[in-house]
Amino acid sequence: MSRRPHQIAILGTGYVGLGTAALLAHLGHHVTGIDVDVCKIEQLQRAEIPIYEPGLEKLLLSNTSQLTWTTDFSAVQQADTIFICVGTPPSADGTPDLQFLQTAVASLAPYLGRKQQIIVNKSTVPIGTGDLVVRLLEDLAPEFDASVHYVVSNPEFLREGSALEDSLYPDRIVLGGLDTALDHMISVYAPLIEQSFTPPASAPRPERYTRPAVVRTTLQSAEMIKYAANAFLALKVSFANEIAGLCEHVGADIEEVTTGIGLDSRIGHRFLQAGLGWGGSCFGKDTQGLISAGREHAYAMPILQAAIDVNARQRQMVINKLLRHLRTMKGKRIGVLGMAFKPNTDDLRDAPAYTLIQRLAELGAVVTAHDPVAMARAEREWSHLKYSSAVNAAQVFQRADAVIIATEWDEYRQLDWEALVATMRRPLIIDSRNLLRHPLTAQVEQVGRELKGTIGAAL
Ligand code: UGA
Repeated sequence: MSRRPHQIAILGTGYVGLGTAALLAHLGHHVTGIDVDVCKIEQLQRAEIPIYEPGLEKLLLSNTSQLTWTTDFSAVQQADTIFICVGTPPSADGTPDLQFLQTAVASLAPYLGRKQQIIVNKSTVPIGTGDLVVRLLEDLAPEFDASVHYVVSNPEFLREGSALEDSLYPDRIVLGGLDTALDHMISVYAPLIEQSFTPPASAPRPERYTRPAVVRTTLQSAEMIKYAANAFLALKVSFANEIAGLCEHVGADIEEVTTGIGLDSRIGHRFLQAGLGWGGSCFGKDTQGLISAGREHAYAMPILQAAIDVNARQRQMVINKLLRHLRTMKGKRIGVLGMAFKPNTDDLRDAPAYTLIQRLAELGAVVTAHDPVAMARAEREWSHLKYSSAVNAAQVFQRADAVIIATEWDEYRQLDWEALVATMRRPLIIDSRNLLRHPLTAQVEQVGRELKGTIGAAL
């Protein structure tokens, strides 16, 4: 395979754009990250990373000679590969809003040259968007030539919080488009496909990792693979949660049940962790996105709708459990541990903790919340919510009537739980992430299971 370093332009410096930039620079390519957000670009030029993602900063800083940051779209002139990594947030009716993508295409269009350039969609986009990008370029790019300019769909499968490992050691690389363009993309990813790069110290290669599979397909199938993968994972989590609810009624233990079913290699263990349900910017948007796509063709997708409903019910179940114990929320002091939608990220998009805090405040509770990294961001993005930020995790317990574990941060496992519950007004813990391993001198409600064993044993 070709070893030629490529000239890459990346439009959008969010999670996906920065992750892609870090990966491609590490693979030896020259990468220019472009964004309309002047503040963000200035931060990146000062080598400050605007998001929290373990290991990302180190990887970007160790490859600075390969990386340039700019707000100037003319930088795409030099690029042979142009990645579009902008956000596609859901609009009010659930369909993905493509305005950022359209703006990105319009901004790059004047700078397409006469040489071969591959435009790569990494943003999660509705099926058919690849063709839309071709049509936009035909309209807006004076030099557009279908024999040298190709659009490729190359969906991203990284998870926030483990973006580095997921990018460097993927299960598969999905490429949709015409053969010439896919050959080009394979040369971009050659060091990744062959695993010939030096693993960074912050993300060593897993012991039993084998090279990624490469899936060559059409634009439409690649776009569908992305949606279907996220929807299936969301479905798995909702399935575990639905079974967990029944476990609570019949006295079964969801963890033993998922261990038991996961041992069937057709099912597997991953994404069966029952709890507060999924949040984040992807599962909700992508399940809704598929349902909307079906609706356009008068095609119902009842399984996905059920997964969404079960997910919403998980959040309400926390409130129901609190009401069962406390009868009313009025004047009750409730502590919330964890605000980010999952551990190891400061991302607050569709975080279950948001719904909980909002509902608790509406019901008249006095809420104190803590998160190891997302508190400052929450103070900006959730300023309209009625809650106060705790100075540390211990503070959410002080004189509280109940504490909810909303995000399973590792550092919460290390807390001195017995000492902390002793500071509560009423020792009630709603462990909605099944983080605790042993009973406490407190009432503890988990999801789909009851804690067994010795009170106060180490976590
Ligand atoms: C998800 C996919 O896992 C990635 O493959 C995909 O690239 C990404 O969306 C995307 O489309 O950009 P992400 O949303 O970052 O990644 O996080 P996940 O680790 O998938 O978790 C999603 C939510 O599901 C979290 O709220 C998490 O707490 C919840 N979850 C996950 C569970 O409740 N139980 C589980 O067993 C697993």
